[in-house]
Amino acid sequence: MTDLVNTDPVNTDLVNLADYETRARELLDPAAYDYIAGGADAEVSLALPRRALDAIRLRPRVMVDVTVCDLATTVLGTPVPAPILVAPSGDHGIAHPDGELATARGAAATGTLLVVSSGATYPLEEIAAAADGPRWLHVPLLRDRAAALDLVRRGEAAGYTAVCLTVDHKVMAKRERNIRNRWTTPPAANLSGVAAAGWDLDGTAMRRRFDAVLDRSATWSYVDWLAERTPLPIVAKGILAGADADLAVRAGAAAVVVSDHGGRQLDTAIAPIEALPEVVASVGGRAEVYVDGGFRRGTDVLKALALGARAVLLGRPVIWGLAAGGADGVAAVLLMVRDELERAMAMCGLPSLAAISPEVVKVP
Ligand SMILES: Cc1cc2nc3c(=O)[nH]c(=O)nc-3n(C[C@H](O)[C@H](O)[C@H](O)COP(=O)(O)O)c2cc1C
Repeated sequence: MTDLVNTDPVNTDLVNLADYETRARELLDPAAYDYIAGGADAEVSLALPRRALDAIRLRPRVMVDVTVCDLATTVLGTPVPAPILVAPSGDHGIAHPDGELATARGAAATGTLLVVSSGATYPLEEIAAAADGPRWLHVPLLRDRAAALDLVRRGEAAGYTAVCLTVDHKVMAKRERNIRNRWTTPPAANLSGVAAAGWDLDGTAMRRRFDAVLDRSATWSYVDWLAERTPLPIVAKGILAGADADLAVRAGAAAVVVSDHGGRQLDTAIAPIEALPEVVASVGGRAEVYVDGGFRRGTDVLKALALGARAVLLGRPVIWGLAAGGADGVAAVLLMVRDELERAMAMCGLPSLAAISPEVVKVP
């Protein structure tokens, strides 16, 4: 792993997460890179989190004993060494032949919780068997409820401890890079029943077929329905409005993820970091609140924690790590952000997560 961690003084190529993207871009087929890196429409939302996060300033306190900064926390009762989780993303086989098996090994090596996408290249059971780390299962808003329930049952049997229901993906966005590239998504092992006819088509055709398997009619009663049928807690992912977070919690969600799907769904949507305070206020402690979208630095993570998030999820950086170095690359990326968070907390005079408060940030 030595050539993949920034503590090696000789390695000046992989110093931050952007370097992992650069490395992955060199290694990947350009259309595969575009599929992972790209967003919807004009990709305005893809760029927004960076600007929003950079505009938030940190207000450090000094002369605090920060000999030890404790990053450990829990998410839905599961202990994790840091408030950094792996977001669900499909098709890891594009980035590395071992796909999610390597992602799972890299995440587990660092104790990081992995949310496995139902669009994974490998069956969810094989991913579970590949490494003994904490894991949740992503489930899409499938029109075929029996198929959705079947996924959940398989997740329960394979030791997944929560269901991450993605609520911002009813309609396939227009992802222009994919259309131009005539991108073909490989078949998703876990969705062969519902999507055999739809997951492996290119461009606009893929969009239309996706639309056929996702449930445009779904309302919060979908969460109710699922909550009644599984003992696993439900995480509603893809919320950008306080009012929706309230409805999600009322419908039975134990946690919400403030997310715009990494800028891959509704273009010009508000940046998740901008929506976070409203969601935190609306939830009022009744559920856990996480956030994702554009987090690339430890200071970014600290800002989210200061604004009330319990944890931050990383999407693309994990795939870049996977492409750059398999399981070791995944672990290196996760450890790099964790290390940056620890340093940022120390420089802000914050020896524990409990010490982090809104006082730490100045929001424009
Ligand atoms: C290639 C790729 C595939 C994704 N697949 C899913 C998915 O299957 N389900 C889901 O809820 N989100 C999916 N996402 C969105 C991520 O979970 C996450 O919200 C987003 O990537 C976070 O932004 P970041 O990439 O800037 O960290 C995907 C993202 C990417 C880049």
